[in-house]
Amino acid sequence: MFAAAAHLLSAPQANAFFHNSPDLERGRELYDTNCASCHGLNLEGQSGWQSANEDGTYPAPPHDETGHTWHHGDTMLLDYIRRGGQAVLDDMGVDFTSGMPGFGDELTADDIEAVLDYIKSTWPDRIRAAQSDRSRLEAGAP
Ligand code: HEC
Repeated sequence: MFAAAAHLLSAPQANAFFHNSPDLERGRELYDTNCASCHGLNLEGQSGWQSANEDGTYPAPPHDETGHTWHHGDTMLLDYIRRGGQAVLDDMGVDFTSGMPGFGDELTADDIEAVLDYIKSTWPDRIRAAQSDRSRLEAGAP
């Protein structure tokens, strides 16, 4: 995708494009290292992610537009990544065995935001807009 963008842009535009997105690059690296083993290098998730495993956990869902990551606002997503699924779902009173580990010990708050920004950067505009509405609603805005 970056290579394709470079062909479409003039040299100064391409420079601005690459130089303005160091956080996305960092986010992608963090994603590849920490998340891709379950959620897939192309954010495609694990196959059969909609059916439970024998132990009651679920396979990792995709983070692209076919999944439901974008159905949640930023606060919930950041919290889910930081504390892991079990802590968040327990707090919500949801009876569910989560397969999503927490990354609060390995990643800083900045790292976690960079990973989420990277995930969002792969979404089409309409999905980004829909998720941004969720974030506003979640934050209690009208
Ligand atoms: C060991 C496998 C595993 C790893 C590694 C992992 N996840 Fe997950 N993740 C899951 C599973 C399984 C779920 C499904 C929900 C659950 O079980 O709580 C999930 C759910 C999520 C959700 C909620 C999506 C939704 O629609 O509810 C987010 C956000 C998420 N993961 C982000 C990440 C990020 C970012 C990383 C890397 C920093 C990561 N995950 C690493 C297994 C993993």
